Amino acid sequence: MTKIVILTGAGVSAESGLGTFRDKDGIWAQVSLEDVATPEGFARDPARVHAFYNARRIGAAAAKPNAAHRALARLQRDWPGEVVIVTQNVDALHEAGGAAQVIHMHGRLDSALCAACGHRWAAPPELSIATPCPACGALAARPDVVWFGEMPYHLDEIFSQLAAATLFVAIGTSGQVYPAAGFVAEAAAGGAHTVELNLEPSAVVSAFAETRLGPASVIVPQWVDEMLAR
Ligand code: APR
Repeated sequence: MTKIVILTGAGVSAESGLGTFRDKDGIWAQVSLEDVATPEGFARDPARVHAFYNARRIGAAAAKPNAAHRALARLQRDWPGEVVIVTQNVDALHEAGGAAQVIHMHGRLDSALCAACGHRWAAPPELSIATPCPACGALAARPDVVWFGEMPYHLDEIFSQLAAATLFVAIGTSGQVYPAAGFVAEAAAGGAHTVELNLEPSAVVSAFAETRLGPASVIVPQWVDEMLAR
């Protein structure tokens, strides 16, 4: 039976009002990633990093899933095989749109991590270095988000899913950050058909067998309708 592995990036949440990173008015055009998305930046100024993620956490909690999130949940529900969603996004809009089995390889805003003992808990809207760890009491709370220079989560599971995929689809990602940008090559090496659904060609568009361009809220439901009509 066909196993579909889907990789999503910031573009799938763009029409829900959440910023992308590398578009011209993207997040990395407004704030330096070295300051807010690296362990060194957190060590230098934890209050600044918490403020950056607190604002994104509050924004993401207020955002609503769009037609792309809902279409992917419908595919998971109605496809006669397995549909695994791997997301680089730290929002919970796939889940809000009805998806199950979502693998968050860059962590998630609604989770807090204790840098002292590794305990994870549901993040309050605002985290700070004064937030005690519920398990060990240390004042070492950090966003449960993977920073540049850190190892993404669940890679073993992701690579085994890619090896077993018969179809790999990347949606709303610029293909500029590894290891996610290399997933298409992994899937193709395992014999999968590969499709890119994006607003504009990604940096790895040439690695895909098929590419469709347009806003996710339009082209993802169209693609899901075609898949389910097969
Ligand atoms: N519909 C579909 N695609 C869109 C839309 C849209 N409405 N709007 C933007 N896009 C596309 C852009 O063309 C771009 O290719 O989404 C992609 C967004 O790319 P990035 O901003 O680089 O985001 P992403 O690929 O998810 O970044 C990967 O980099 O900064 C790190 O950890 C961060 O997870 C992030 C990772």
